[in-house]
Amino acid sequence: MTAINWFSLLHPVLMILFVYPVVGATIRLGLLVRERRLGITNQLAAVPVEHSDHGRWLTVAVVFTVLIAFVYSFLKIWFEPAEPFTGGVLRLALLLLVAAGSFIAVVALSVVKKPALRAIFALLCWAGLLGLGSEPEIWRVSDNPFNTSFWSSHYWIGVLLTGLLLFSLAARPEIQNSIRMRRLHVTSNVLVALLLAVAAITGTRNLLW
Ligand code: HEM
Ligand code: HEM
Repeated sequence: MTAINWFSLLHPVLMILFVYPVVGATIRLGLLVRERRLGITNQLAAVPVEHSDHGRWLTVAVVFTVLIAFVYSFLKIWFEPAEPFTGGVLRLALLLLVAAGSFIAVVALSVVKKPALRAIFALLCWAGLLGLGSEPEIWRVSDNPFNTSFWSSHYWIGVLLTGLLLFSLAARPEIQNSIRMRRLHVTSNVLVALLLAVAAITGTRNLLW
């Protein structure tokens, strides 16, 4: 195994070791928040705060681990002697800068309070991920959602679910205060749970190639 081979394992290993266990805890805490609000069971006052904090860790961890996958895909071509890296060192540096900017955006999103700032950092982060993903080094399978292979694209499944997590992180106060937002939150996160399962399947499949 070369250094770049080990680097290729970082994204799947972090997903399995850190992200998926936090997903389980977040879903469990979300259900407890609901039971508490509806008075079905007696839950501690800390439960909603814990759910929200787990959601924050989950979103930041997913963005970080997705960025590692992108950086790996660029570096793999960079270190490939047979294929010259289009744009050379300047383009590589720019791509790494966008990756760093996207990470800074999600960290900023998890601390800012003003609605406009939350919207801006969420959009900046997601635009960074979409921008990096649109580069030719990234294997997207298909860009047409009406084509069935689009839904087997690990990339598209990954960026869609990351976008929905960023939306939850950006809308935390609104989810707490409005019943309509809570409904939207639960619906969008049922979809996230489904997409997380598809990401696990398509990601494991990618390891075969
Ligand atoms: C794995 C995905 C997630 C699931 C399945 C989930 C599920 C839920 C559920 C069932 C509720 C209770 C709704 C109710 O009371 O009717 C809830 C509330 C909430 N969720 Fe999530 N959630 C997820 C991810 C997230 C994320 C990523 C965040 C953002 C950091 C987040 C923030 C919140 C907040 C702020 C509330 C309101 C808590 C309160 O009432 O004080 N959730 N969620
Ligand atoms: C939250 C779940 C996940 C998300 C959001 C996600 C997202 C992504 C994204 C956006 C890429 C970039 C595409 C590219 O660089 O070509 C990628 C690459 C990849 N993913 Fe995932 N992924 C997830 C889980 C997994 C899992 C569970 C595995 C395997 C067990 C996996 C294996 C891979 C592999 C092998 C690649 C190719 C690049 C690399 O090895 O770093 N992913 N993923």
